[in-house]
Amino acid sequence: MKITITDTEPQFFDRVAWRVAVEIADKPEAVIGFSTGRTTKGIHASLADIHKKYPFDTSGMTVFGLDEITNVSREYFGSCYYILLHEVVEPLGVPMENYLMPPVHSDDFTRECQDYQAAISVRGPVALQILGIGENGHIGFNQPGTPFNSYAWLSKMDEELDRRIRRETGSAPDAPLGGLTLGIRNIMYSKKIILAANGVRKAQIIRDALYGPVTEELPASVLQLHPDCEVILDAEAARLL
Ligand code: F6R
Repeated sequence: MKITITDTEPQFFDRVAWRVAVEIADKPEAVIGFSTGRTTKGIHASLADIHKKYPFDTSGMTVFGLDEITNVSREYFGSCYYILLHEVVEPLGVPMENYLMPPVHSDDFTRECQDYQAAISVRGPVALQILGIGENGHIGFNQPGTPFNSYAWLSKMDEELDRRIRRETGSAPDAPLGGLTLGIRNIMYSKKIILAANGVRKAQIIRDALYGPVTEELPASVLQLHPDCEVILDAEAARLL
């Protein structure tokens, strides 16, 4: 694993964004996996700025999302579809036919999971997957305990997120929410991975994920086994290394 540490948070956002920009500029047909959240929001803003200042061709690239909340509307501002559309696809001018996301509604999510990973793989190998990390070590919706050999699957929403989404969408208490996510195996098949983390609240889990045992109890620890994974951190997230 290569570890890059920046002094400040703005430098952290820029560093990750430049890695992504260079990947696209080098390989205009690259298939790139994006994540959502507080970490990636700043990265995406920086990527949009870079693209504005130094335009590069995005007409042949494919953008896909690592995960999606199920049984919410795509127009809900917290859906991954909505977030990546507004943070990445539109600012970079990626053609809509090159934007892949799992559906939010279906009567057969098992089939949707298979279709989604198949739709990504026909585009070619994933050149780069950008990951954030949860404070419990989750990546995507792969929570602690997820088998390392998992493919795309529908995970149960964690309770805190479940409550927040219900508050924000007004979903009925009995409407099941889930997290459709690419599995650990799908992630590990990516040619290159960037794990990005900023802020002191990520310091402990970053230390455990990078230097602790590789265990399904800490999903991000599997990245120690990936041949081309770069971990990009700001000084706060790196303070226990
Ligand atoms: C979401 C995803 C999640 C987040 C993680 C960190 O698409 O993949 O694993 O990366 O929950 O979220 P933030 O950045 O909000 O701390």
